[in-house]
Amino acid sequence: MVRELGEFLRIPSVSTLPAHDGDCRRAAEWVASALRRLGCRDVDLLASVAHPVVWGVGPSVPGAPTLLIYGHYDVQPPDPLAEWVSPPFEPAIRDGKVFARGAADDKGQVFCLLKAIEALGQPPVNFRFLIEGEEEFGSRVLFDLLRREPQRTRADAVLVADMAFVAPRWPAVYTALRGLCYAEITVRTAKTDLHSGEFGGAAPNAHEELVRLLGRLKGPDGKINIPGLYAAVKQPSREERAAWKKLPFREADFLKSRVQAKALTGLKRYSVLERLWALPTFEIHGIKGGFTGEGAKTVIPAEATAKVSLRLVPSQKLKTVERQLASAVKRLAPKYVTASVEFLHGADPAQVKVTHPAFKLLDRAFREVVGRGTVPVRAGGSIPVVPALGQSGAPVILTGIGLPDDRLHAPNEKLDLQQLWDGIRIFGRFYELLGDMKASRKGVEKRRQGQASEAGA
Ligand code: BES
Ligand code: MN
Ligand code: MN
Repeated sequence: MVRELGEFLRIPSVSTLPAHDGDCRRAAEWVASALRRLGCRDVDLLASVAHPVVWGVGPSVPGAPTLLIYGHYDVQPPDPLAEWVSPPFEPAIRDGKVFARGAADDKGQVFCLLKAIEALGQPPVNFRFLIEGEEEFGSRVLFDLLRREPQRTRADAVLVADMAFVAPRWPAVYTALRGLCYAEITVRTAKTDLHSGEFGGAAPNAHEELVRLLGRLKGPDGKINIPGLYAAVKQPSREERAAWKKLPFREADFLKSRVQAKALTGLKRYSVLERLWALPTFEIHGIKGGFTGEGAKTVIPAEATAKVSLRLVPSQKLKTVERQLASAVKRLAPKYVTASVEFLHGADPAQVKVTHPAFKLLDRAFREVVGRGTVPVRAGGSIPVVPALGQSGAPVILTGIGLPDDRLHAPNEKLDLQQLWDGIRIFGRFYELLGDMKASRKGVEKRRQGQASEAGA
């Protein structure tokens, strides 16, 4: 299994970099062959214009419930490369962990879900698969597909394993995901770059203006200075906040062993979990423009661009936040500069009710294997298509076998092999338990008896 997972991890399927388009296709094909080996029919690469979505339909089990499995085969860029102990796309095992980009997010977890099916032979479940290749870049292809063909989400339940335990031995089920608004803010101050001796002191500097603008957008106290932004933010309920207090989460440990900085920042009057799960954020990802090469060049840059994003929480709306950011930038930039905002991708926040009986089965599966059931928590991260996956009314189960220290998107991402082995047993048990559940009217196989119009079938 380690060798097989290694093949998958070796493919550098970085969805945001066009140079890796071929690799994304290879990763999609790797998933497609894995689905065929599981006995799937109608295995297909859909919407192959950009990064294809892999679709598959497991062997038919009449009357059994339908489970739609979602995951992604794309990964984030691996830089900074120098910080990896072993190269990001040469999976290496050290100390019972596999180190590679995508080990936990999300290739290792997709692998886990598939191996759990294989381990059981023929689970009493009608599987459907949507494994996409643009999750890390906003999921545009899958959004379009699900808008055109919403019947692909018809199922008794949707399973997403793209998250982590809250702590070792503490499995989680997620009740909310933050949304995302990713943008580039560009400031232009003059027609061209200028000699900083000839013009310095009298000409505007694009970097200086951009930095000042960014500094105005978020103050040192962590408050985001975008009019109206906090208006839609819903406070977590008293019960929810009380439940968070009981989690094995200590702010001091979080600082010391996870953040590994000298202090935590942000809105001090909220707990760290509230800042991570229930409040919007504004982050600067990178700034480009001017002279950043080796050596020294005395120039006044005429243009500077910052890549930024806001995380959104229930009940904020992406469209509203986009408008608010654009007008805040216009308002905060001085009259003599041209400031523009370009939106790259985004997602609404998602909320999930965890009351459907399938959540009890997942809880039981975790309890049997790990010795503890799932605790309901929220996620700071985003999975753009989650609301769309639930559009047919099926419960979307957000869980995972990662650990909080897996270093997603960062150097030396890893997956603990014991989590993978446990995960195969957990999800296998979940499939068995789900199989005992009667297919509902939303299920696919029962309906099919009378109609042959199902997508892809
Ligand atoms: N698996 C993560 C989301 C996640 C991370 C959920 C940690 C819960 C805990 C996912 O692959 C991810 O990174 N999503 C991106 C989406 C964005 C690029 C549209 C994110 O959150 O930055
Ligand atoms: Mn992921
Ligand atoms: Mn990710």
